[in-house]
Amino acid sequence: MKICVLPGDGIGPEIMAEAVRVLNALDLSFELEEALLGGCAVDATGSPYPEATQQLARAADAVLLGAVGGPQYDTLPREQRPERGLLGIRKDLGLFANLRPAILYPELANASTLKPEVVAGLDILIVRELTGDIYFGQPRGIREENGERIGFNTMIYSESEIRRILRVAFEAARKRSRKVCSVDKMNVLECTQLWRDVAIEVSKDYPDVDLSHMLVDNAAMQLVKNPKQFDVMVTGNMFGDILSDEASMLTGSIGMLPSASLDANNKGLYEPSHGSAPDIAGKGMANPLATILSAAMMLRYTFANEAAAIRIETAVKKVLAQGCRTGDIFESGMKKVGTSEMGDAVLAAL
Ligand code: IPM
Ligand code: MG
Repeated sequence: MKICVLPGDGIGPEIMAEAVRVLNALDLSFELEEALLGGCAVDATGSPYPEATQQLARAADAVLLGAVGGPQYDTLPREQRPERGLLGIRKDLGLFANLRPAILYPELANASTLKPEVVAGLDILIVRELTGDIYFGQPRGIREENGERIGFNTMIYSESEIRRILRVAFEAARKRSRKVCSVDKMNVLECTQLWRDVAIEVSKDYPDVDLSHMLVDNAAMQLVKNPKQFDVMVTGNMFGDILSDEASMLTGSIGMLPSASLDANNKGLYEPSHGSAPDIAGKGMANPLATILSAAMMLRYTFANEAAAIRIETAVKKVLAQGCRTGDIFESGMKKVGTSEMGDAVLAAL
């Protein structure tokens, strides 16, 4: 089990240290190798996804990532920005299926800005296509025409790209409540008309799963109005980027949410859904639980070790039940802990 560890920027190294401690405590034989991605890689090599990292990531069975980015990199040319490193590794490894669960832990119900009855028991899985769409479509750029600048990008999907992500969504739904909501903008965009047509075709192979369709603007509204109507939501890269941030905030605790980005053979990159939080970097305050839970997802999807995944997830629930809280999920009456204390508590619970 070869794991490429990419701590990244900001709070990345701190939260990754805790996830690595948890993995090492499992008594499974991992081979962990560290490399640079994002701003730290630009600082060291000039590239956000350097050659050495590419080789290590390609050779590994799984990649565990902390977070990338920081304000000091915002003014760099586009190809040197940390985000480019992230997009680069997704594309390079063919990680087309991004799974973003939004789960509300009962102990953290008050963290949501929505009424408890709207979000209690929330358990949504967003399946976002990750290597296509307007993120990668050509042509793209900014050109001059008639004395003014024109910016343009291309929203594009082939039917094979749509089919394979729909299959991931249907398979995931079979392990859950057997409902898939496919999100598009077919009333305006041809590209997403094709998306809907292909979704209907693929659904014929999954008669046991209920398929519905929703326009993306309505989906954004329904997520806030009645989020519990959803089980699995599947959508393209850009809509998925937006809706997954919205869904994560329904729980009020983005510091708790892991994610997985998978290729066709369950090789995966696993990372917390939150960013690099430069404002609290190096202070030992960050919540490591999303990274620890990402390691659990890695055990489940890439290493097919459901028992070990559940062991970690159970330990995390136990720690919450004990009242341990980092600042982001703190409520009065609870025990405020730092990053490494939270790691200690998870290790103890394991
Ligand atoms: C995400 C992020 C990235 C994306 C950025 C950092 C490029 O927002 O993983 O959702 O847009 O995919
Ligand atoms: Mg995003």
